[in-house]
Amino acid sequence: MVYSTSHKPCPAILLIGASRGLGHAMAAELLKKGWNVVGTARPVEGRTQLHDLADENQGRVEVETVDICEPEQIAALRARLSGRVFDILFVNAGAANANPNDTIGEVSTEEFIRVMQEAGVQFYRQDGTPREGKVRMDWDWLISVDSLISQPPRSLGPDLNLVGWFDERIDIIKRLWTCAA
Ligand SMILES: NC(=O)c1ccc[n+]([C@@H]2O[C@H](COP(=O)([O-])OP(=O)(O)OC[C@H]3O[C@@H](n4cnc5c(N)ncnc54)[C@H](OP(=O)(O)O)[C@@H]3O)[C@@H](O)[C@H]2O)c1
Repeated sequence: MVYSTSHKPCPAILLIGASRGLGHAMAAELLKKGWNVVGTARPVEGRTQLHDLADENQGRVEVETVDICEPEQIAALRARLSGRVFDILFVNAGAANANPNDTIGEVSTEEFIRVMQEAGVQFYRQDGTPREGKVRMDWDWLISVDSLISQPPRSLGPDLNLVGWFDERIDIIKRLWTCAA
C-alpha cells in the first residue's frame, strides 16, 4: 500500500470496470488526486488501458479481473480482496447496445432485451417460469393478443358530451347565483 506524505494511508477505491471509458478516466483522475486504485477488467487476453495506467503509476494501481455477470467470478474477487478496506466501491461496469451510435429509437427490441438481460433483468414466460437465453419478439402475435389493440375501448364521445352538458348547466347556475347575490 502506498502512504501519503502525512503517513496516513492514501484513500483507496475499488473500481469495477476500469479497463476503458469512464472507469479508466475516473481511475486516472483519482490517481492525480492521490488515491490508490484497484481497478478491474474482464478476464480476457491482452492489455487494457488500465494496465497502461498501472505501468505509469508504479505500485498505486492493481489490476484485478471480474465479469459481474458471473457470480463465481464475483465470489472469487471477494475472496481475493478479503480483508482489504476501500473508501469507495464504484461499479462503473455497464452494458451498452452493440452499436453505441444508435439512438434509442434505432435500438431493436431484441437488442434492448439483450442489454437488460446482461444487466441482470429476468424475463418470464406467461406461466411464471424464468426464460433463459435469447428472448425473441413476435410483434404480429403480440398485437393480435393485445386487447387494447384488438378490442379497443368504446368511444368516450357520448360520456364526454354528458360531462360537458353538466359543466355548462352548473356554470349557468353559478352565474345566476352570482347575479342574484
Ligand atoms: N459514456 C457515456 O456518455 C455514458 C453516459 C451515461 C451512462 N453511461 C454508463 O456509464 C457506464 C460506463 O460507460 P462507458 O462509456 O465508460 O462504457 P465503456 O467504455 O463501454 O466501458 C465499460 C466498462 O465496463 C466494463 N464491463 C462491461 N461489462 C462488464 C461486465 N459484465 N463485467 C465487468 N466489467 C464489465 C468494461 O470492461 P471490458 O473492457 O472488459 O469490456 C469497461 O471497463 C455504463 O454503464 C454506461 O451505460 C455512460
